[in-house]
Amino acid sequence: AGAVPFRGTHQAGIVTPAQDRLHFAAFSMNPGATRSDLVALLKDWTAAAERLTRGEEVGDGMEPDNALLPPDDTGEATGLGPGNLTITFGFGRSLFVGRQGGDQQGGEQPSPDPDPFGLRSRLPREFEPLPSFAFDLLDDTQSGGDLCVQACADDPQIAVHAIRNLSRIAAGRAHLAWSQLGFGRTASTSRAQDTPRNLFGFKDGTANVMAEDTAGLAEHIWVGDEAPAWLRGGSYLVARKIQMTIETWDRSSLGEQERIFGRTKREGAPLTGHGEFDAPDFAAALPGSGEPVIDVAAHVRLAHPAQNRGRRMLRRGYNYVDGSNGLGQLGAGLFFISFQRSPDTFVRVQRSLQPDLLNEYIRHIGSGLWAVPGGIGPGEYVGQALF
Ligand code: HEM
Repeated sequence: AGAVPFRGTHQAGIVTPAQDRLHFAAFSMNPGATRSDLVALLKDWTAAAERLTRGEEVGDGMEPDNALLPPDDTGEATGLGPGNLTITFGFGRSLFVGRQGGDQQGGEQPSPDPDPFGLRSRLPREFEPLPSFAFDLLDDTQSGGDLCVQACADDPQIAVHAIRNLSRIAAGRAHLAWSQLGFGRTASTSRAQDTPRNLFGFKDGTANVMAEDTAGLAEHIWVGDEAPAWLRGGSYLVARKIQMTIETWDRSSLGEQERIFGRTKREGAPLTGHGEFDAPDFAAALPGSGEPVIDVAAHVRLAHPAQNRGRRMLRRGYNYVDGSNGLGQLGAGLFFISFQRSPDTFVRVQRSLQPDLLNEYIRHIGSGLWAVPGGIGPGEYVGQALF
């Protein structure tokens, strides 16, 4: 596998063709950490991430001169190559306004300081916390975080190695709050990729915003002049850990499954068409009964831009299985990740999904929202324009 350039106009890992594996991590700043701790951390992370994405060991590597110290690099990715690794950094709202009672942060204590890093005046107007949604069952220990790091690669060991070494580098300044492994991408982000499937067995990512759609990206994904300079060319990342009750799903009929999504299972075609990429016809009705062919509460109808004032998002999620629960059920689901120009797009679509037929089979159990600064230029560190 190849190497994805780390520096550029936008951060890598958004329009990069979705890799096969994910290790997503949320970090909390340590109590008492200062603005200069934060800047030093971002500089160190940038230097390490650049090396990691080239397939190089961090720092002085796994065999530094001084054998009395632990090696800089933990070593388990040595020899595996770059594996198309991308590392994407995001900033949580709490970095700007402190941890308030309502902003849950991995079950951590609220911070009394409303401006711990002197960033309050740089908070973008649109960067509001996500509201709570119907059926949310969020676990604080899998939600929020002052910083997020999305590591994607074609080899799970490369993605895990990246998060592990970035956590070590954070020591004394920030610590891992929670993390999530994902296997099996559930979205294509390039027309060159085949559409993968989620754990319900349906093709996922068909109607995504793709890398080739530069006009769509500019309109719907990249933040523009509406935001402070540090965020232009960036995006907002929403992560939702969505548990899927696959045992119940597996007992539902094929017809019911297709009705829920509004698409066919094998081809992924809208129920009003034949090919995967045929546009759904939401007005089509069954002869006789006059019932709509695509159910009024089908997932594709409710998520479609036509129901959401034309708003679109770039989905980049992963399947996960976190073992099983002792009742014979898998802890399985979708680690949903989407990038959008404004958090409001996610809020709008998620609200529109309130009557979704799918809701009987899923539960949102984790959540986070981060502002992903624009690309990292030559010699710069991530988020430099913020300080
Ligand atoms: C479309 C699955 C949750 C937003 C789809 C499709 C599938 C799917 C199979 C049709 C194929 C495609 O275009 O990708 C799921 C599953 C979910 C889930 C299994 C939960 C476990 C969500 C959530 C959102 C969302 C939480 C956003 C709030 C969308 C959008 C589309 C879509 C925007 C494209 C609609 C269109 O333009 O036709 N999803 N989805 N999905 N989903 Fe989901």
